[in-house]
Amino acid sequence: MPTVPVKLGSRSYQILISAGLLDELGGRARTSLGANCGRAVLVSNMTVGRIYRDRSVRSLRHAGFKVHSFSIGDGERFKSLRTAESLFGFLIEHGIERSDAIVALGGGVVGDLAGFVAATYLRGIRLIQVPTTLLAQIDSSVGGKTAVNHALGKNLIGAFHQPSLVLIDPDVLGTLPARQTQAGLYEAIKYGVILDRRLFNSISDNIDQLKNLDATRLELLIARCCSLKAGVVGRDERESGLRKILNFGHTVGHALEAVSRYRRFLHGEAVGHGMRAASRIAERLGLLNAADREMIDAAIAGVGKLPAAGTLALDDMISAIHRDKKVEAGRATFVLPVEIGKVVMRSDVPPPVIRAALKDALK
Ligand SMILES: NC(=O)c1ccc[n+]([C@@H]2O[C@H](COP(=O)([O-])OP(=O)(O)OC[C@H]3O[C@@H](n4cnc5c(N)ncnc54)[C@H](O)[C@@H]3O)[C@@H](O)[C@H]2O)c1
Repeated sequence: MPTVPVKLGSRSYQILISAGLLDELGGRARTSLGANCGRAVLVSNMTVGRIYRDRSVRSLRHAGFKVHSFSIGDGERFKSLRTAESLFGFLIEHGIERSDAIVALGGGVVGDLAGFVAATYLRGIRLIQVPTTLLAQIDSSVGGKTAVNHALGKNLIGAFHQPSLVLIDPDVLGTLPARQTQAGLYEAIKYGVILDRRLFNSISDNIDQLKNLDATRLELLIARCCSLKAGVVGRDERESGLRKILNFGHTVGHALEAVSRYRRFLHGEAVGHGMRAASRIAERLGLLNAADREMIDAAIAGVGKLPAAGTLALDDMISAIHRDKKVEAGRATFVLPVEIGKVVMRSDVPPPVIRAALKDALK
């Protein structure tokens, strides 16, 4: 079975990837958590829970866990302090102890929320991530970033808390809406552009099979993306340097999400637009050649048509770029490709270049 180690000293863990693995959740959790873990709190949402909760609970019980299930609403707005507070209450009422664990079954919303609660309840209890969207399987479940949103901004309240295990069953993507799968594929392209030209080519060459959820292709894709992310996180767990390259496409992507009030774009789609914009900035600065920029455009187009962004006001976009929480000393940092597979970070992009690249990318 493809297994990706995340090497972080005493916080190291494994990412297991295999079709049908959900039925082995209990046994794998037992191996990772040890015999002294009596209870597992399964956190999911209404949609995912309806499809996969019973199988997960059965497997956990079979491995000797007493299981308590907690369900949150479906949607980004439930990634909130309010939901976290009701989960804290549930844990306290059920007498959940330090030796017990939370199992997050769902997409990035469930994973981030459950992870945040696991990071802070009793100053931290153990967490198992069982991601069920492609985005969560290749990105959000790995690396230990957890957070909830605040009315004034996304992911503003959070903690680093590494899971004890990430268990990925690509079969669960069979019930995921196609638009969500595509959003995950844009993020997969991101890994190719920043770190791995071969991965980039293999996504471009096999895009139809990936969109049709070809099992072998998907497993390879997920394993490669996880391995790239694990490598970055292993060298820069807390994003003081290298980890920032994972933000390729996110400077503009976050601005697009904010300006459209998180309603028009899925996160991966906003990143798709953001990668088009960043590639254009790189080309205008003479860092990236036109052929590679066109290949990046073609790979993004191959995934599917991005929701239109042309109606958003450029000035609003530029203000939002400078309000992002990753702005340092008032300067927006852009991750810019110099070729497919290699990027640099720049905080000195002249405003006219940002404007022109945005205008061209979003039209
Ligand atoms: N922690 C990190 O490092 C990190 C990285 C990237 C994104 N994120 C966060 O992840 C979140 C987005 O995650 P997401 O894209 O997974 O969205 P999501 O969690 O909202 O899931 C998308 C939709 O798919 C449904 N769904 C999930 N799995 C399903 C399945 N197998 N079958 C049917 N439906 C299913 C969900 O109910 C939801 O409606 C954002 O809050 C973002 O901030 C975190």
